Amino acid sequence: MVSPIEPINGKYKGKDIISLDQFSPKDISILFKKTVGMLLIAKNARPSDLLKGNIVTLIFYEPSSRTFGSFVAAVKQLGGSTVEILDPEHFSSVSKGESLEDTIRVFEAYCDVIVLRHPKKGATLKAAQAAGFVPVINAGDGIGEHPTQALLDLYTIYERTKKLDNLIGVLAGDMLNGRTIHSLIRGLSKFNGNKLYLLSPKELRLSREDLSSHMESGKLELVEIESEKDIPKNADFWYWTRVQKERFKSESAYEKVKNRFVLDNKLIKERAGKNTIFMHPLPRVGEILPEVDKNPNAVYLRSEIRNGMYIRMALLALILGKSK
Ligand code: NCD
Repeated sequence: MVSPIEPINGKYKGKDIISLDQFSPKDISILFKKTVGMLLIAKNARPSDLLKGNIVTLIFYEPSSRTFGSFVAAVKQLGGSTVEILDPEHFSSVSKGESLEDTIRVFEAYCDVIVLRHPKKGATLKAAQAAGFVPVINAGDGIGEHPTQALLDLYTIYERTKKLDNLIGVLAGDMLNGRTIHSLIRGLSKFNGNKLYLLSPKELRLSREDLSSHMESGKLELVEIESEKDIPKNADFWYWTRVQKERFKSESAYEKVKNRFVLDNKLIKERAGKNTIFMHPLPRVGEILPEVDKNPNAVYLRSEIRNGMYIRMALLALILGKSK
């Protein structure tokens, strides 16, 4: 839409959602308040017509289960409808060579919001610049960001700990390619006193550029670690991620680093606190053992999933200017 990385600054209506950098703590709190209302609508199966007459187009160039499913469900919970373009490289004019910009200009004529997932970092920003009159939501742009995932992650942390400052967190897995990690770090850097331990093989550390820009922001303390032995015992949350296989040049390079760090009951016993919560954006591919699922602090297959729908309901309502 207008200026793609415009800060939210208390006003969601009509804004593109591209990066967590757009959000202040106040903006996050506005969203969370709205999310509580959405939770009541969804949990009680209360009919809502908040988005009645609105159409949301989802264009997903990459596979998705949760982001796609929860956005579609969010629209339907609020009485709106969706246009769904999955795999546009095969099932749209993209297969004939149509550019991303033209694709966006076409679909914006049919709807009120576009939700876009794309394999290239920066593509959703480009799409937002191409869109003339509807907002674009980044549903994951390559190894760039995944803002709606980070918002639901922050909500899940807040729900359990009642705060978003002075937290100690452990992020494990693929710091280099994990877009959910990139957005979550940006989100947590808005608040005071947060300290994050980044556990990854050397090859998968945050890019030096990202690391120094986070360090310069001043508020966040980042500590890179390479062994489970360095996990602090008093963490509020552990956020595990999968090594992003699709971003590797070769199978053998992936095989070398996959599942270096596995979350199992033994590790929990050795290093977790009584209230440490266990998070994962999913899908998991072996880096959290199923034995952990029953742990009451394992939220990845529970509230983290449901919160994804509530947060997206709230975000859509705010962007479309539906205040009730
Ligand atoms: C994530 C993604 O697509 O970045 N999935 C999700 O949206 N929950 C994480 C991943 O694929 O590893």
